[in-house]
Amino acid sequence: MQKVASAVPLQRLKKLLQENDLPAIKKSLSKIITDIGSLEAKGKQATRVDIKSSDKIFELPHAYFKKELLQICETKTIERTKYYLKRLLKGISEVKTGKVNDINLNRWKEYDDIITDSLWVVKKRDNSGYHSAGYWGNFIPQIPNQFIRRYTKKGEWVLDAFLGSGTTLMECQRLGRHGIGVEIQPKIVTLAKKNISLERKKIEKSSQIEIFQADSSKVNYEEKFKKIGVTSVQLVIMHPPYWDIIKFSEDKRDLSNADSIDAFLRLLGEAAQRARHVLDDERYLVLVIGDKYADGEWIPLGFYAMNEVLKKGFKLKSTIVKNFEETKGKMNQKELWRYRALVGGYYIFKHEYIFLFQKKKKPASASRSV
Ligand SMILES: C[S@@+](CC[C@H](N)C(=O)[O-])C[C@H]1O[C@@H](n2cnc3c(N)ncnc32)[C@H](O)[C@@H]1O
Repeated sequence: MQKVASAVPLQRLKKLLQENDLPAIKKSLSKIITDIGSLEAKGKQATRVDIKSSDKIFELPHAYFKKELLQICETKTIERTKYYLKRLLKGISEVKTGKVNDINLNRWKEYDDIITDSLWVVKKRDNSGYHSAGYWGNFIPQIPNQFIRRYTKKGEWVLDAFLGSGTTLMECQRLGRHGIGVEIQPKIVTLAKKNISLERKKIEKSSQIEIFQADSSKVNYEEKFKKIGVTSVQLVIMHPPYWDIIKFSEDKRDLSNADSIDAFLRLLGEAAQRARHVLDDERYLVLVIGDKYADGEWIPLGFYAMNEVLKKGFKLKSTIVKNFEETKGKMNQKELWRYRALVGGYYIFKHEYIFLFQKKKKPASASRSV
C-alpha cells in the first residue's frame, strides 16, 4: 500500500487536544473525514500512520477511523470530545492484546466480524479458499477461523483431531498459525494434503502443517509431536462424526461405526482426553456436533458429547447454537420435510452445537495418564 498522509492524522488529532473551541474542533474533524473520503475514492482502504518517536507503523482502516471521528463529531461537550479523541489516539498508537489472541483491545471496534453472541446464523460458507465444500460432513471455514483468531496468537499451534478435508489447517495457513491434523482415512489424508498445498501456493505463508493418519482415540501425541519438534498445542478443534448419521468409512475404529451411542461417547471422550494431554493449561477446546433423530425420538447427542468432554478436566465456557446453511438439495425437499414434520409431530433439524471448553489446571477426577 502506498504511504499516504503519513503521520498527518496523528499530528492533526494531537493538535486538536490543545484546542478549547468545540465548533473549531468539529470543523477540523470534518475536514479529516473529507480527506479520508478522498483517499477512499482513490481506492485506498487504509492509511499508514507513522508513530513518531517509535518505529511502529500502523495500518489504519478508513472504515474504523471514520466511524470513530463521526462519533466524536456527535459529542456535545468539550470534555467528551477530548475523552474520545484521547481514546482514538491511544487506539492508533498503542497495541493492547490479551493472553490468548492478537486482538488489539484498544481498537476492538475494528473486529466487527468476530462473533461474540451464542447464536450463529451464517448465511453462506466462505468460498474464498481451496476448501473442499464437496467433502460430505465438512464444516464451513468460518468455524475454525473464528476460534483460531479468538483463541490463538500468530505462530501458535492448533490441533484438529478429526481433520476430514483439512478445513482447520487451511485456516491456520491463512492466519499464520501452525497446525496438526489427525484423520483415520488414508484417502482423506491425501485429499486434505492436496487442499492445503493448493491453498499454500495461493497465500505464500510459512505456517508449519503436519498431518497424521491415525485414530484420535488411541493416538500417542507425545510420540508424534517429538518427530516434528512440538511439545504442546494452544487450541484443539474437534469435529467428529455425529455418531452414525454419516458413515465415513468401513474402518471399525471410525467413530461413525461405533456399535452403540455409549461406545461412540467413550471413544469421543478418549479423543478429548488425549488432546487435553497436549493442550496448554487454561487453553481452549472446541467441539462441533449435532443431535440425531432415530425411531421417532430426538437423541441429544450434542449434550451427551458435551458431558463426556466435561468429565475429562475441562470447564464449559460457551454453548453456541449454529444454523445449518441451506444447500440446494435441501431447499428442494423443504416442502416434503415440512409435511413430514407436521404429520410426525416433530421439528426439523436446523441447528448444530459448538461447545467451547477451557482446560482446567488441575482436573478434579479425570485420570492424567493416557
Ligand atoms: C465430521 S468429519 C470432519 C470434517 C472436517 N471438519 C472438514 O471440514 O472437512 C469427521 C472426520 O473424522 C474422521 N474420523 C472418524 N473417526 C476417526 C478417528 N477415530 N480418528 C480420526 N479421525 C476419525 C472421519 O473420517 C471424518 O473425516
